[in-house]
Amino acid sequence: MTGRFITLEGGEGTGKSTQIRRLAAALEKKGIAVLCTREPGGSPGAEEIRTLMVEGEPGRWDAVTETLLAYAARVDHVARTIGPALLADRWVISDRFNDSTFAYQGVGRGLARETIRRIDSAVLDDFAPDLTLILDLDVKTGLQRALARSGAENRFEKFGVEFHEKLRQAFLDIAKRSPERCRVIDASGTEEQVAEAIFTAVSRRFDL
Ligand code: TMP
Repeated sequence: MTGRFITLEGGEGTGKSTQIRRLAAALEKKGIAVLCTREPGGSPGAEEIRTLMVEGEPGRWDAVTETLLAYAARVDHVARTIGPALLADRWVISDRFNDSTFAYQGVGRGLARETIRRIDSAVLDDFAPDLTLILDLDVKTGLQRALARSGAENRFEKFGVEFHEKLRQAFLDIAKRSPERCRVIDASGTEEQVAEAIFTAVSRRFDL
């Protein structure tokens, strides 16, 4: 298997989807076949679960239920989309993956890290990204950007600024805990600057 699994993580409005499009285009220019996907979602069943997670009132789910929904979607996503693409030697870029559960349901909503780790290892069997890019941005700027574009998918935006400050720290902590896998990218620059920082990190990691 020569496919690589890259994830982009970070808070709301950090520019992940724009940067994923740019990274995919840059890799394709180098002759690499790329599949872009997202979480929650990325397979028909997981997209249905996404709607349950990201729409409606903040108190709709408790943290445990929300975690199990995220993993139900993730298992389907890995089995039906990510795994087959990697086996076909494609590179997969996912907008969020399991670090989002450790940040949102763990640090954000207060579920013990160890509980999430046990669920993760039980259902994902140590499957993990080869590289995770954590887009770091001032929370207020990110929320403003997210509010400007969000439709019905705004359940997590309603959790408030304090919740989102905790998330930012949570992602930075994840990067500290897993320095071989994670790179923190300053997302406050122009779209161009951020894209360049991301491509440099990817090129170095995979010797492109
Ligand atoms: P986004 O990827 O479009 O930003 O939206 C997905 C939302 O779902 C975002 O608010 C983060 C949230 N989420 C979780 O709470 N837990 C998870 O495990 C994942 C993948 C996403």
